[in-house]
Amino acid sequence: MTSDHIFYLAPIRGITDHIFRNTFEKFFARFDFQITPFIPTVKGSFVNPCILRDIDPSYNDIKRVVPQIIGNSPQEIKVLANKICELGYSTVNLNFGCPHAPVTKKKRGAGILPYPDMIRSILDQLPFQNCSFSVKIRLGLENENDIEKTIPLFNEYPLSEVIIHPRTGIQMYKGSVNLDAFQRCLSLSRHILVFNGDIFSSEDFIHKQKLFPQINRWMLGRGVLYNPFLLGILRGQNPDCNITYLRNFHDEIMEQSSQILSGPSHLLGKMKGLWTYMASSLVDGKRILKKIQKTSSLKNYNELIDRLFNDQLTVQSSEAVSLR
Ligand SMILES: Cc1cc2nc3c(=O)[nH]c(=O)nc-3n(C[C@H](O)[C@H](O)[C@H](O)COP(=O)(O)O)c2cc1C
Repeated sequence: MTSDHIFYLAPIRGITDHIFRNTFEKFFARFDFQITPFIPTVKGSFVNPCILRDIDPSYNDIKRVVPQIIGNSPQEIKVLANKICELGYSTVNLNFGCPHAPVTKKKRGAGILPYPDMIRSILDQLPFQNCSFSVKIRLGLENENDIEKTIPLFNEYPLSEVIIHPRTGIQMYKGSVNLDAFQRCLSLSRHILVFNGDIFSSEDFIHKQKLFPQINRWMLGRGVLYNPFLLGILRGQNPDCNITYLRNFHDEIMEQSSQILSGPSHLLGKMKGLWTYMASSLVDGKRILKKIQKTSSLKNYNELIDRLFNDQLTVQSSEAVSLR
């Protein structure tokens, strides 16, 4: 399609860990940047290394991976951000967009958006001298007009970019993205903006590209989980959408995850989580997903997956995404 666009892997907690990030690129296509799922801030000045395991530089490309922090205490954010910068990362992303009630109730994620003063006190204490910072936001928590206050506030700080998912928090993933509101963000912001939301096919991409010709940064989340070939398609690489890639991708994720997860039920849960998205890339994906969800042991799961891959599975036409 075009080569001068910059693509970001969206953080999807529970799915896009370092194993996914690396394995995806091995079998499908390469992102320009990958934002990690959020790392919550911790109290005090000691950051337990186990919370940084997913961003260990020995298995992350620190030039392209951007760790994400969630929190609302300026001091705690500063401590964690400094720790991440010490690992060699040059950019840290702040999550001001998570819509889940247990998070927003604590005025974290999208829950902070109605409180510009809280955001200001965080931005005031960011160690910009140590690394750069970007933010990932929604339009607001309940009110899309929160952006009228947040964007001008962000304008006062040297953020490297502002990633916008143009829905409100209470909207979760329902309805459609608010493209008029994104247009408003474009006129309000002095920063580089990244568009994120509902890019599931090349038609979706072309539509958004036409609406926002000044944007060349795009973040893809569920779209690449539904259809892992999507990034290659958008890059105009004409990928060979062969089922073998999905099989190898699946097997490698499973093998590597088995080495870090404790016990078969965690592994089974993780693989089922992946299939809730990936089944969309298959002909008859809904029925296949039901079968997978019913398996209750790793043995049954492995037998089913073998059977499915050996006999029946076919990749949908590369554009089709049916389960949404
Ligand atoms: C299960 C799930 C987990 C997510 N985890 C995160 C996260 O850790 N950090 C974050 O900023 N966004 C998170 N998101 C939001 C996505 O990054 C993205 O903004 C959203 O899915 C919209 O983009 P899409 O339409 O391309 O999927 C999550 C979304 C889902 C569905």
